[in-house]
Amino acid sequence: MCDSKTERKRITNTANTIRDNTEKVPEEGFRVVITGKGGVGKTTITALLSHLFAEKEFTTLAVDEDPQMNLPYAIGVPREESDMIVPLTHNLDYVEEKTGARPGEGWGLMLKLNPDVTDVVERFGVKGPERVNILVMGTVVQAATGCLCPENALLESVVRYINLRENEVILMDTQAGVEHFGRAIAKGFDQALLVTDPTFNAVSVVKHSARLAKDLGIPYIHLVINRVRSERDITKVQDILGDTLDLFTEQFIIPYEEELLECEPDVRPMLSGDPGSSFITGVMDIQEKLENYGTKKV
Ligand SMILES: Nc1ncnc2c1ncn2[C@@H]1O[C@H](COP(=O)(O)OP(=O)(O)OP(=O)(O)O)[C@@H](O)[C@H]1O
Ligand SMILES: [Mg+2]
Repeated sequence: MCDSKTERKRITNTANTIRDNTEKVPEEGFRVVITGKGGVGKTTITALLSHLFAEKEFTTLAVDEDPQMNLPYAIGVPREESDMIVPLTHNLDYVEEKTGARPGEGWGLMLKLNPDVTDVVERFGVKGPERVNILVMGTVVQAATGCLCPENALLESVVRYINLRENEVILMDTQAGVEHFGRAIAKGFDQALLVTDPTFNAVSVVKHSARLAKDLGIPYIHLVINRVRSERDITKVQDILGDTLDLFTEQFIIPYEEELLECEPDVRPMLSGDPGSSFITGVMDIQEKLENYGTKKV
C-alpha cells in the first residue's frame, strides 16, 4: 500500500507548486481544532482530513501548533523541504516587524498587541501536496504571569486572524495536552475534534478537554476513539467518560490500522489504498460530518 506507484491517480505530489485557490465551495469558512494526549493520532487524522477536504475542492489551511512540527511530513511535504521550514515564531524579523519587539530582548517592552497579520499565510504558508496550505506556528513560549512575550502576541493575533479568513477550512493540529485551551488559542474555533485511544490516561485528557472546549464556547465538540481493536475498547472509553459523553456532538470510531506504520509519516498512501478499509471510511465519515456542521447542513 505504501508503494507510491499504487497510489490513486488523484493523489499527486505537487509540493511547492502554486495552487489555484479560486474554486471555493463553502460560503463561509470554518475552523476545527484537533486535540488530545500525546501519540493518540492527532497529526495523522489532521493530515488525512486536510487531504480529504482538499479533494472536495475546499481551500484548506492546515495549521501546525505543535512545536514538534511534524504535520508537514504527515501531509506529504518532502522531508528535505519540511526540514527547511522555519516556524513563524522563529522568524524574528517578522515577529519584530509585527509586534515592535524582538524575541528574547527582555520583558517589559512595548508590544503592539493586535498587529496586522493579514499577510501571514501569504508570506509563511507552505504549499503542500494538492490544495493543502500549511502554516507552521512554532513554539509558544509560556509567559510568566502577567507578561506577554512578542512570540505569544504574534501567535494570538495569527490565531485571531485565521479565525476571520473566509471560504477556508482551517484544521489546527495541536501539541499534546490541554494548554492551548488554557491560552485560549482555540477560542473562536467552530468545532473541536477530541482524539483518544482506549487508554485511561488518554481518555482523561479528553474528558478534561471537553469541559474546557465547552467553557471556551466551541459549539461542536466531537469525540474520536482511535486505535480501536474491539467493542470492548469502545465501551471502556465510554465508561471512563461517563456523563462527559453528553458534551459530544458526534462520536467517531477509528480502528487500529497496521498499514499506517508502514507508510508513516506520509499519510497519502493510506488514501490511495483499499477504499473499503474501515480505517479510511472512518476518517471519511469524520470529514463528512465536519463539513456538514461547518457548512450548516445539520
Ligand atoms: N488508527 C491507528 N492505527 C494504528 N496506528 C495509528 C493509528 N492512528 C495513528 N497511528 C500511529 O500512531 C503514531 C502516533 O500518531 P500521531 O503522530 O498522529 O499522534 P499525535 O497525537 O499527533 O502525537 P503527538 O502528540 O506526539 O503529536 C503514528 O505512528 C501513527 O502512524
Ligand atoms: Mg502530532
